[in-house]
Amino acid sequence: MQNQPRPEPTAAFLELIRRIADNGYVTVAEFMEVAATHYYAARDPFGADGDFTTAPEISQMFGEMIGAWVVDGWMQLGKPEFARLIELGPGRGTLAADVMRTISAWPDCKAAFQLHLVENSPLLRRHQAEVLKGYDPVWHEKLEEVPPGVSFILANEFFDALPVHQYIMVNGEWHERCIGFDRAKDSFFFMTQPYEGAPLPPAPEAAIIEKSPVSLAAMDQIVTLLDESGGAALLIDYGYDQRGFGDTLQTLRRHSFTDVLENPGGDDITAHVDFTALTERAARLLDVHGPAEQGSFLLNLGIAQRAEALQQKSTEKQLEDIQKAFHRLTSPNEMGTLFKVLGLTRKSDIIKPAGFDAAHPLSEEQEE
Ligand SMILES: C[S@@+](CC[C@H](N)C(=O)[O-])C[C@H]1O[C@@H](n2cnc3c(N)ncnc32)[C@H](O)[C@@H]1O
Repeated sequence: MQNQPRPEPTAAFLELIRRIADNGYVTVAEFMEVAATHYYAARDPFGADGDFTTAPEISQMFGEMIGAWVVDGWMQLGKPEFARLIELGPGRGTLAADVMRTISAWPDCKAAFQLHLVENSPLLRRHQAEVLKGYDPVWHEKLEEVPPGVSFILANEFFDALPVHQYIMVNGEWHERCIGFDRAKDSFFFMTQPYEGAPLPPAPEAAIIEKSPVSLAAMDQIVTLLDESGGAALLIDYGYDQRGFGDTLQTLRRHSFTDVLENPGGDDITAHVDFTALTERAARLLDVHGPAEQGSFLLNLGIAQRAEALQQKSTEKQLEDIQKAFHRLTSPNEMGTLFKVLGLTRKSDIIKPAGFDAAHPLSEEQEE
């Protein structure tokens, strides 16, 4: 964790102090929700000068692979005349732009698709409007506002921004992990409250378990839309597919980890995504594919061939950039295994989304 000077209190900081003064504490989920909402409302956090970089911001190859995935799924569905590309949390709009540009290579596919964006940050909406002005996007606060119809839903690093509750084992009993504020020290601190919810599994003292009802509700909206209208969803995030215990709450400022309680609303706040919980929720009504590791998913879709093709016509500097981007997106030491990809399709559609075949063998170079 980096030692950085403490920034000025943000609007989220003040809002959380007000809530704690009213109620004595906030839950970790409430802390995360206030912090994340203010964070995205106040800044464009992407890229080398920001707090973090996402896969579509690393290289156009990422969005091109996803674009090809959408075209393939649309063809398997019999090329419906009207379909929606829906992105949840589109950030700077880079992924949507790369996907739309890729599907434009198939004119009947391009003609079929209308772009819908689910975004709650007014600042990022303005950015998306600029980047995507050629594609006439329609914005929504929530997925349930998107009208029914064949849908291809994309969510890259969306679920990790949604709030999690944390429960902690103290003296043999589960408690909810909460946050108070110490006025004398002018800082937040962790505390616990008795837990009276649904039973949680036995665990050793001090174990922490995370639950995200907001993520499950978002998944329910995806399930409802796909079950009613058909199509497919692709969720890409860093997370775990083996259930376990642990505190995965983290904050980033300028690409370094920070103290999670220090600067709510000023630092990027996330938690790892529980793919097991999301998969179980979706599997009741949908076919579930994966989760696959991002590296093998992209290799299955042909990212190595795409990198080679781009390198054919590139300068020496571009060649190096393409190699670096390919490595970052696919290597197990980078995003290749930590990031997982979950595919969802309607059971009655019986389509086989691309990329989820047996794990693509990672090259020796990648395993270094
Ligand atoms: C980490 S960024 C990912 C951006 C983009 N998908 C990418 O890969 O570059 C999270 C995005 O989700 C949006 N977001 C976070 N919570 C949201 C919510 N509850 N409803 C709608 N959008 C949300 C943020 O404003 C931001 O656009």
